[in-house]
Amino acid sequence: MREGQVIVGLDVGTTKVCALVGECRDNGVNLIAIGSAPSHGLRKGIVVNIEATVESIRTALEEAERLSGISINNVYVGIAGGHIKSFSSYGAVGIKSGEVTDEDIEKALEAAKAVYVPLDREVLHVLPLEYLVDGEEGIMNPVGMAGVRLEARVQIVTGSVSAVQNLVRCCEKAGVQVNDIVLEPLASSIATLTDNEKKEGTVLIDIGGGTTDIALYKRGVLLHTSVIAIGGNHITNDLAIGLRLPVQEAERVKMKYGSVISSGGIENDARIMVAGRDEKVIPRSYITEIILPRCEELLGIIKTELEESGAYDEVSYGVVLTGGASQLEGLAVLGEATLGLPVRVGLPRGFEGPPGLAGDPRYSTGIGLLLYGYTAETPPIMRGDVFSSILSRMKEWVKGFLKKKTFKGIFLEEGGLHEFRH
Ligand SMILES: Nc1ncnc2c1ncn2[C@@H]1O[C@H](COP(=O)(O)OP(=O)(O)OP(=O)(O)O)[C@@H](O)[C@H]1O
Ligand SMILES: [Mg+2]
Repeated sequence: MREGQVIVGLDVGTTKVCALVGECRDNGVNLIAIGSAPSHGLRKGIVVNIEATVESIRTALEEAERLSGISINNVYVGIAGGHIKSFSSYGAVGIKSGEVTDEDIEKALEAAKAVYVPLDREVLHVLPLEYLVDGEEGIMNPVGMAGVRLEARVQIVTGSVSAVQNLVRCCEKAGVQVNDIVLEPLASSIATLTDNEKKEGTVLIDIGGGTTDIALYKRGVLLHTSVIAIGGNHITNDLAIGLRLPVQEAERVKMKYGSVISSGGIENDARIMVAGRDEKVIPRSYITEIILPRCEELLGIIKTELEESGAYDEVSYGVVLTGGASQLEGLAVLGEATLGLPVRVGLPRGFEGPPGLAGDPRYSTGIGLLLYGYTAETPPIMRGDVFSSILSRMKEWVKGFLKKKTFKGIFLEEGGLHEFRH
């Protein structure tokens, strides 16, 4: 990215759409403005209503343009949802000159990419996990190493073509081109995890409104990711039903008084006013009694998911919670008890900007999209090119597969540690 160039991260979430405008500086990204709008067109992280989503994107973009004074024409957009799947793949090449070059790495990655991807799936990311030189494992940067055989292990992340197309279509209808589509847990972890956490083994848990995204990092690479279709909205609904309140009031009560700490004390004995059909006064502890089981359930599902995928054993450092619902009082403490791991709440970091702007965990994905855009080499796509670009990317893959399917070093390892789950 060139100094002065503007990048826009567009986080199309289940509860809000936000557009973050950043300016590239020599030493990083300077956040200029955030435009935000309530989101009504998504369910469980996936676009289910094009018109409503377009409207939200348009409103968020307009606000971002007004606040920044910059006209936005392309964005890095995040994608999540249960349709995301990943698998690991492997490719090998001979090292021509006896010393690994960038070209050898590219070829090894190409070989690893040459696997069958069903036509209804779009490849979102090819993430190198490690390289092997003459069978020696665990090499992250093999350039310059001596050897005769280079192998690459990668994780290939795919999404359903229709979900990707619907998201792209919404952006286009709202008047912007899509530079790249980025996996949301990947974006959130770019913004919240330290290098040390990524190296030592950390799980990022982004609890949004409709979904909880999980990403496991170890040895500096993304090893596992999955999406659970439970988020803060479920807690709000529980409160609405339990206290017989309209959803909007339940949301207010949750944000203001929500807590999972049930150990009594003056705060928990406090009586609060809620406005249903009639106004009534309830003890604050009622709220905890309703919220706590849902949070325990969610954390329990996360633990099972981590254990079943094998990821739990890789978490030697701890857990980072982010996303709007991570602000629920006491959630980190409950997380430590349920998951049996150290837990901290992760705020977005790694950018400059006015104090307080994007200072809360709802913006982790948006900031991550900006930081991804800052380091990405993806050339901007011209208006109208996006579908053909997706198609041509798919064609490239099919072509690559046909060309290389006789290649002996390729195998496709499905399931296990690298499988996304719903
Ligand atoms: N202070 C708070 N305390 C408790 N919950 C909160 C607080 N602030 C926001 N939330 C909850 O966070 C959720 C929204 O989080 P976020 O903005 O990360 O979601 P999203 O990105 O729109 O959705 P998703 O990522 O699931 O598509 C809502 O359920 C909201 O009630
Ligand atoms: Mg989100």
